[in-house]
Amino acid sequence: MSYSVAIDGPAGAGKSTIAKLLAAKLNYIYVDTGAMYRAIAVYFSQNNVNPDDEREIEAAVLGVDITIEYIDGVQQVILNGDNVTHLLRTEETGRMASKTSKYAAVRSKLVELQRQLAKKANVIMDGRDIGTTVLPDAFCKIYLTASVDARAKRRFDELSAKNEPCSYETIKADIEERDYQDMHREISPLKQAEDAVLVDTSEMTVDEVVDHIEQIIKERQ
Ligand code: DC
Repeated sequence: MSYSVAIDGPAGAGKSTIAKLLAAKLNYIYVDTGAMYRAIAVYFSQNNVNPDDEREIEAAVLGVDITIEYIDGVQQVILNGDNVTHLLRTEETGRMASKTSKYAAVRSKLVELQRQLAKKANVIMDGRDIGTTVLPDAFCKIYLTASVDARAKRRFDELSAKNEPCSYETIKADIEERDYQDMHREISPLKQAEDAVLVDTSEMTVDEVVDHIEQIIKERQ
């Protein structure tokens, strides 16, 4: 019997930062499902698959094999035998993932993989549909969100710290577009599960969020 914690929420709410810290603290395996959608998006980009053509996407998915490994506790995504983890966090890949994650062929492939992982170990899994679709029986569900401005500011600060040229307005518009796409697709749109606890991190530090969710998990255990 394994135990699962589901953390869902919009882009930039801090899901992966928080989930990673919680997993290390509570000795769970962290599963980043966004990275799987990003890996498929890398495959589509590399093979010039048109993200607006569902037929092309369906045919391309047949050629995709994604597996997950852990190196020193850090999730690695293996795409057709190659470790593509280092290619996943670009804005372009994020945009492609947001566009192509709406297709049934893409989702069913990855949901299956995610459920298999959760069967094998205690997981903290983050994404958009974990509490609603992937793991509806998770014993603890968190809906992690923050205002668009708070999320855009965090992203802007993150890129500025790395000396990457960026504009606050562009980042904000991008976040709004991704929110819209993720929340309005037909299959498994991003929404708070009925039994999820809402945590708004707009005015909270990372430590405060981790402590707060740790408390919620412990109460449920
Ligand atoms: O969390 P992220 O930014 O790495 O996710 C990239 C995209 O993948 C996101 O825009 C929507 C999609 N995604 C999804 O549809 N379902 C998930 N469980 C995780 C991510």
